[in-house]
Amino acid sequence: MILRLVAACLLSCLTAPAFAPPVLAQQQVAWKSGAEAAAIERRVEALLARMTLAEKIGQLHLTGRGDGFQPELIATGEMGAVMNFVAPQEILEVQQAARRSRLKIPLIIGLDAVHGFSTYFPLPLGQAATWNPELIEQAAYWTGREALAAGVNWTFAPMVDMSRDPRWGRVLEGAGEDAHFASVVAAARTRGYHRGGVATTVKHFVGYGAVEGGRDYNSTWIPTSQLHDLHLPPFKAAFAAGAMTAMAAFNALNGVPATAHRGMLTDLLRGSWGFRGFVVSDFGSITELRLHGVAKDDAEAARKALLAGIDMDMMSGVYHKHLAGEVAAGRVPLAAVDEAVRRVLRVKFHLGLFERPDVDPAAAPALMQTQGARDVALRAAQESVILLKNDAGTLPISPSVRSVAVIGAMAVPEDERVWTDPAGLGRRIVQSLPDALRERLPAGTSLNYQAAFTKNCGTEFADKAAAVRMAAASDLIVAMLGEDCEFMGEAASRAELGLPGVQQELLEALVATGKPVVLVLATGRPLVLTWADAHVAAIVQTFHGGTEGRTAIADVLTGRVNPSGRTPMSFPRSVGQIPVHYDQLPTGRPQIIRQRYESIYIDEKNEPLYPFGHGLSYSRFTYANARVDRQSAPPDGAVEVAVDVTNAGAREGAEVVQLYIRQPVASRSRPLRQLKDFRKVTLAPGETRTVRFRLEVARLGAHDDSGRYGVDPGEIRVWLGGSSLAAEQTGFVVAKP
Ligand code: NOJ
Repeated sequence: MILRLVAACLLSCLTAPAFAPPVLAQQQVAWKSGAEAAAIERRVEALLARMTLAEKIGQLHLTGRGDGFQPELIATGEMGAVMNFVAPQEILEVQQAARRSRLKIPLIIGLDAVHGFSTYFPLPLGQAATWNPELIEQAAYWTGREALAAGVNWTFAPMVDMSRDPRWGRVLEGAGEDAHFASVVAAARTRGYHRGGVATTVKHFVGYGAVEGGRDYNSTWIPTSQLHDLHLPPFKAAFAAGAMTAMAAFNALNGVPATAHRGMLTDLLRGSWGFRGFVVSDFGSITELRLHGVAKDDAEAARKALLAGIDMDMMSGVYHKHLAGEVAAGRVPLAAVDEAVRRVLRVKFHLGLFERPDVDPAAAPALMQTQGARDVALRAAQESVILLKNDAGTLPISPSVRSVAVIGAMAVPEDERVWTDPAGLGRRIVQSLPDALRERLPAGTSLNYQAAFTKNCGTEFADKAAAVRMAAASDLIVAMLGEDCEFMGEAASRAELGLPGVQQELLEALVATGKPVVLVLATGRPLVLTWADAHVAAIVQTFHGGTEGRTAIADVLTGRVNPSGRTPMSFPRSVGQIPVHYDQLPTGRPQIIRQRYESIYIDEKNEPLYPFGHGLSYSRFTYANARVDRQSAPPDGAVEVAVDVTNAGAREGAEVVQLYIRQPVASRSRPLRQLKDFRKVTLAPGETRTVRFRLEVARLGAHDDSGRYGVDPGEIRVWLGGSSLAAEQTGFVVAKP
């Protein structure tokens, strides 16, 4: 039977020695065009004409491995999509069942392959911290390729929800707070998965990242102008990169559940944007329309979702149960069902599922954790490390340090937890932090380790006294703390953003020893680090680096790798500052001298602790000669902006050159700063490089309250630098048309 493989077998079935040669045929995902696309439309229509209503509804029915899964529906053509299968043998069996069905329509097989399948890359927010789109694309490529090797052909990624509220546990799945940056990342991830051979699901459409109070699944209220300027651009970017499916969000948007939002799903997505793929609901979100208070029962929920534009029902089972009855009663036109089926079949044809060979379970293990994937995992983990603070050159660890105490259970994990993958499999971690450090520190340096806690997330002490004693006896303390277990990810919203459990108590005891403390954080979001910033010598931020994560941390701590990660989200000083983001609008009472009647807090600074785009290096970079190639450009023109960047430090390093603009006078208030471009460059010591950006004027506009986009004439100020505090300035004028 198809469910016979036990979970325990899954990891060993999939993990192979690194030297095995890959043998997987390339399966590039791309919308076909011209005659090929026309031929597909003909095939879709021919197939549709042969389908019974039950078979049509079957194409809209997505269910997952586990309790209640009804494998018999596959062979009867009543289930066109499955999810959460990871074992190649099981996938082969379900796909073969589909091929035995009357019309032999292959299954689309989905999984949250979000930041890895067998090889784990940093969490998506950590990948974003690399500010390296090419590397992010490669991580997605390997994730897709390994998933494909197991037989998966559809990933529920990329998540492109804008993340400005770190109380929301799912910020770890996104690319942070900036719309331009998130769009670049969304396109890179989409391209990568497609090269790897799996279809993408751009999600969650739309506004999920703005849930009120950061509480998961809560409502969102987003004005039209902000929806278009902030939340929609990364979706557009993913569709422009060829994304074939989208997932609707759990939340209600401005009072209408996203799962029943015809304005978004049909008028905007299909109408204005011309999207030809299909939209899947989120897990159970169609039946949840009852709880949202817009449907009295599942039949009405099914009807409302389908008519709004949800083509496929994930895990509610209500299309399967009720759509036929709704059609028979005349409440759902058959044409609406046909249109949804058409979209699903179109994607299956464009993906080439009818022609793809079935997965070869015997070949799959050799395609997992290959050297190519691990090389990218290591680079991504290295580049994702953000050096937030480094007093008096505490890092890299100096040869004069003769003894190091590594404290914290997180430094020695048993495996890499897969927070975003319902398959819930453990994944092999290549090295623990103490082992990786031992290998890299000069011979004779003593290195000791104490877990201090019973679990990674530090909810209770194992032996605090022993940890503090060991720390006090060492020259340098490396404390690896943060969020793990249930503290991050979906359904892990937090009202307090300190270190969970008893970790802060330990950190204070370590600081009290008087020995320098390097705080290494592995979290799913920016925490409030105000106390740590004031008391520890150095802070190294990681967003769970994956298979090679601890190795990468050791590389940075010992100076083998010069850190180059940058914050993709602002780090708040206190929860009360949230939402905190760099691209604030100006106010009529700006902060100038912090007198009472200014837009300030009376008990907190306005500025975040670490701004967007921030990250230190063991080198130092200077900027000079910001310039433009013309003083004025028409709305359809472009300006070349250039700046000279020098590595003024003593070692090679990578700098993320960031370009921000402001239009000080326009028809609506415009942000004080907006990122418009960035480039990561590696410079030798003493090297100066001219970095050039092409700024199309058409990209400098904004949407109004009716969603219309426009570019205003007038002055544009431009800043270049290594964070959102960039200081090197130039500018130009957008001429009247
Ligand atoms: C719910 C999550 O919101 C979604 O992102 C995910 O893809 C599905 N569960 C399937 O696991």
